[in-house]
Amino acid sequence: MKGYVKIFTYGCQMNDLDSLKMYSILSRNDWEPTVDTEQADIIILNTCSVRQKAYEKAMSNLGRLRKYKAGKPSLIIVFAGCVAQQEGLDIKARMPHVDIVLGTHQLHRINESILYVQEKKSTYVNTDFIDYISSMDVIPDKAFMVPGHRAYINIMQGCNNFCTYCIVPYVRGREISRDYKNILNEIDSHASSGVKEVFLLGQNVNSYNGGITFPELLKRINAIQGIERIRFTTSHPKDMSDSLIEAFGTLDKLCNHIHLPFQSGSNRVLKAMNRHYTRQSYFSLIERLRRSRPDMAFSADVMVGFPGETEDDYQQTIDLISEVRYDVLFSFKYSVRPGTKAAEWPDDISTEDKKQRLARLQDLQKTIMLENYQNRIGKIYDILVDGISSKHPDQVHGRTTQNTIVNFKGSPLLIGTTVKVCTTLANPNTFTGQMLK
Ligand code: SAH
Ligand code: SF4
Ligand code: F3S
Repeated sequence: MKGYVKIFTYGCQMNDLDSLKMYSILSRNDWEPTVDTEQADIIILNTCSVRQKAYEKAMSNLGRLRKYKAGKPSLIIVFAGCVAQQEGLDIKARMPHVDIVLGTHQLHRINESILYVQEKKSTYVNTDFIDYISSMDVIPDKAFMVPGHRAYINIMQGCNNFCTYCIVPYVRGREISRDYKNILNEIDSHASSGVKEVFLLGQNVNSYNGGITFPELLKRINAIQGIERIRFTTSHPKDMSDSLIEAFGTLDKLCNHIHLPFQSGSNRVLKAMNRHYTRQSYFSLIERLRRSRPDMAFSADVMVGFPGETEDDYQQTIDLISEVRYDVLFSFKYSVRPGTKAAEWPDDISTEDKKQRLARLQDLQKTIMLENYQNRIGKIYDILVDGISSKHPDQVHGRTTQNTIVNFKGSPLLIGTTVKVCTTLANPNTFTGQMLK
């Protein structure tokens, strides 16, 4: 064993998966993961830049490590992910204690970069974009997957959409799809080691083109023995094809839940965001999805306070939410990202107005969620059991195919199995239920 490594992960599921892969690569090279920061010989910050706050967090966490490293000079500090991509070599001037800067296309080099630093006693910086992102084909070790029966699978990376507020195309690069054969091989191997659910990840999975179309990929995964549930994220409304909508009606393993960010309910704002759909076409999508799968559950991302958003624009967002009735909404205040198109426009909605708009929206969503959940009380659901409840050790928790969490009395032996549970109580964000014998 060479020593211990600890990774701090921020941002989206893609980053969670990237961290899992880095742990796997390093453990294959005799570095042991640890939860104890003080024990770590390598500290990796896997960062997110999607909003100003996330960026600042990455910077302040890195800043804090300067003093820490002064007391432990052998410590290797790795700055990785989306902020690292954005900053590149520049970070070294401000943060001279950084040993390694790894961009979003270079995470597969984590082990060699450490060897480089140890041998050459100098900094390793690599933020090059490449044509095929090798880390997509790194298969994470089962030991690091929590829970062990759910596998997150990277099917594509990057984005070509350039929504005017968004930094992702700049920090993840253009869309690159992973070869479908590698995806199917990975899922085959997961299935034979007991994985029940696959969760496909990409910034815009609908435009996947790694040799076959996305609906075709889903069809092939649906045929893999042992896999019981298929989920994916994120979908862009402008790229939802008829065959994908159809797939929800025909593929028995495809879960009846979709995350479909709409960002705003106002056509004027959607246009300024460069989203390429209207509220009308979004409604029509929702309707067609519900026709394909009547019990479809929806979640989405939305933001308030985009440049020029009037009270009327905002009201249209509120109306859209009331109409669709999402189970879960991830809602954000618009945050200027330098280098994006929208950063050229005045950030003219005051912080106070953004805060109020967000609070009103979240209040509404809380009510809708609870009403949605109350309508599902007394029904029986298939629950894939994920783990032991942290608050009640005699309870376990799992998810319905609609992706809602249910807590119920049960033994830890149930983890990884699917059981039938009747919902008895709706709480904010979860159900309480009772397992059927
Ligand atoms: N690829 C996904 C999500 C990307 S980022 C998609 O296209 O939907 C996740 C969410 O962060 C976005 O959906 C958006 O709601 C939010 N977001 C992105 N940039 C933002 C910004 N500059 N300010 C506030 N929220 C932002
Ligand atoms: Fe960002 Fe838009 Fe791409 Fe999503 S689709 S990652 S919001 S640019
Ligand atoms: Fe953040 Fe990068 Fe994901 S900016 S949201 S970690 S793609």
